[in-house]
Amino acid sequence: MMTHETSFFRDKAPFETLARLIPDLLARRGVMKQLVIWSAACSTGQEPYSLAMLLHERFFSLLSSWRVRIIASDLSQIALGRAREGIYSELETARGLSPAMKTKYFRPLQGRWSVAQNCRGLIEFRQLNLTQPWPTMPACDFILLRNVLLYFDVPTRMAVLERMRRTLRPDGALFLGGAETMLGMDIGYERKIGTGCSYYVPLKR
Ligand SMILES: C[S@@+](CC[C@H](N)C(=O)[O-])C[C@H]1O[C@@H](n2cnc3c(N)ncnc32)[C@H](O)[C@@H]1O
Repeated sequence: MMTHETSFFRDKAPFETLARLIPDLLARRGVMKQLVIWSAACSTGQEPYSLAMLLHERFFSLLSSWRVRIIASDLSQIALGRAREGIYSELETARGLSPAMKTKYFRPLQGRWSVAQNCRGLIEFRQLNLTQPWPTMPACDFILLRNVLLYFDVPTRMAVLERMRRTLRPDGALFLGGAETMLGMDIGYERKIGTGCSYYVPLKR
């Protein structure tokens, strides 16, 4: 059964790995000054807001003159509605956020917590079914495709991963969920070891 289970900075390691990959990528994009990250099954929004907080926390001054886009998509209009709203309960914010991060990036709103504008402004929400033809996507530097592949059969997984490879820039990277793998699938990625997790880069052909 499909769930919308998610949390802020879920599994931590992919966010730590991203933070380690970003400086080199920014150096390579120094002329273009564009960074595109796609959260491809964003559920109720905690994943893309975590990305926005990470960029603000660690790369704020470096990125001030850049065009930064976080594209957040999901199949479910209900989940996307909550993601766009960006308002979370005490319990939801307690899952993954330190009190300091909560105070810095959220505003209290009638007993709940509303994401601050500096994070909202980076994110574009859109409905997208990964198993149907996609609208044109911009070339992405990083794609997070986490905890959704496990709901698809193997041929569908392979088709989605193949399209993700064509959407990634040649020096970009793809992150899967902790229990997801490309083991046994020959679809043009190389597995790399990050900080406590794996990630995948397109094979040079
Ligand atoms: C378990 S959540 C994962 C959320 C987030 N990526 C994370 O790891 O915390 C799975 C999400 O995948 C979405 N989903 C399921 N099938 C999909 C499809 N065909 N296309 C796009 N999203 C889909 C669901 O609506 C749900 O929000």
